[in-house]
This record gives sequence, C-alpha cells and structure tokens, in this order.
Amino acid sequence: MTIRLGVNVDHVATLRNARGEAYPDPLEAARLAIASGADGITIHLREDRRHIRDSDVFLVRAGIDRPLNFEMAATNEMLNIALEAMPNACCIVPEKRTEVTTEGGLDVIGQHNSLRPIVARLRAAGIRVSLFIDPDPAQLVASAEIGAGIVELHTGAYAHGKDGELARLQAAARQCTELKLECHAGHGLNFANVAPIAAIPEVMELNIGHFLIAQAVFDGLGPAVQQMKSLMLAARA
Ligand code: PXP
Repeated sequence: MTIRLGVNVDHVATLRNARGEAYPDPLEAARLAIASGADGITIHLREDRRHIRDSDVFLVRAGIDRPLNFEMAATNEMLNIALEAMPNACCIVPEKRTEVTTEGGLDVIGQHNSLRPIVARLRAAGIRVSLFIDPDPAQLVASAEIGAGIVELHTGAYAHGKDGELARLQAAARQCTELKLECHAGHGLNFANVAPIAAIPEVMELNIGHFLIAQAVFDGLGPAVQQMKSLMLAARA
C-alpha cells in the first residue's frame, strides 16, 4: 500500500499576512506543491485567522484538482464554513488561541458529546472526517466509537525525540486496523525524521507543513516537496 503526502500551506499565508500584501499566495503554493508530488493540500482556518482566511478556503477549494483537507476546531462556526466549502476531508483539531501550533491531540473521550454531532453532520454531507489525536489506545477506541472513520496521529512528541514515541505510534497504527480506522499522521515531520513514520505500513497519509515551507526558503517549494515525497516512498518501499 502506498502513502500520500498532504502539504499544509498555512505558513505561506503567515508570510503573506506579515506584510499585509497579496503575496505569497497560498493557492499558488498549493498548485506548485501538487505539481511537485503532493497528493492533497491541507489548510487550517484558525479561530483567530492568523494565517488562512475564509476567502483562502474557497479559493484553494476551487483552484486545485486534488483533495482538500480542512483542519478545523469543533465549533459551529467552523462546521458551517466546512459545509459551505465542502472540502474532501475535515480534520478536527483542538485549538487554543494562545498556542503557537496545535499542541497535543483532541480529547475525544472527554468531548464525546460535543464531537459526535459535528462528525455526524460532516459525514452526512459526504465529507471524510479525521480526528487529530495522540497515539493513545483509549482515544483511538473513542474515535472509532463516534464514527470518525479516520484518525491523524500527532507526531509532535516523536519529532521532539520523546523516548518510546515511535513504538507508541506503531502500536496505534496497528490498533487502527483492528478498529477499522484509516490511519494518518503528522506534525513536526522533516527530512531527518520522516522515514520511520512513513515506514509504518498502516499509515496512509502524512500531513506536513512548517518544515516544507521553511525549506522552501532555501530549496524552493517544488524541490522541497519532491524530496519529501521521495523520502516517504523510499521508506515505504
Ligand atoms: N496535522 C495537523 C492536524 C496539524 O494541525 C498540523 C499543524 O498545523 C500538521 C499536521 C502539520 O504540522 P507541521 O506544520 O509541523 O508539519
């Protein structure tokens, strides 16, 4: 089974917003990433709109010919935007205004009652739904119970070198098969640490953003995406 690369272009918008100009354009970046081997594009519309804006969601949705994965907090505002934009997939993430990035996974167990109707509304509209969780067996069981269909395993602790984290991710990926959950992974992945994650046979998709946009400063976005994709495919082979 092969593995897909979703390129997150949020930080192209971060750079654009820093100067209040119209460039660099996240849609142009998304198209270049696709031309360079990305299998899909990911964007996160945060509550504070610090990078992606509402208009970007619709422009990227209409302007690419690959699946769009829309990361969103579990709020009614985001649900309504998702139902209007109709991305291929929504990844529900925890969100705190003060965090610099998504720190830790969703507490699916604790938020069971509030997540379930959002998952149901999205799925009823034909949108694939994933839940961004830590590689925790109980969170995986809860994710399957509320009918998500997909989980994205948070690789942030692994990327920070936490002991035993690769083994936890491998075990969580195996558990996905038992629970009939499609397994994705992401956060903090780069050229140096992607291979062991891409080699996990159950993992079907990686979502990678910050490193690729940073590496684009030196290599260009196209070559950075190409190199990431070939590292992933080599690890999987
Ligand atoms: N997956 C999810 C659910 C995320 O929230 C993020 C960060 O926005 C990523 C993947 C990508 O993480 P990074 O930017 O560290 O590659």
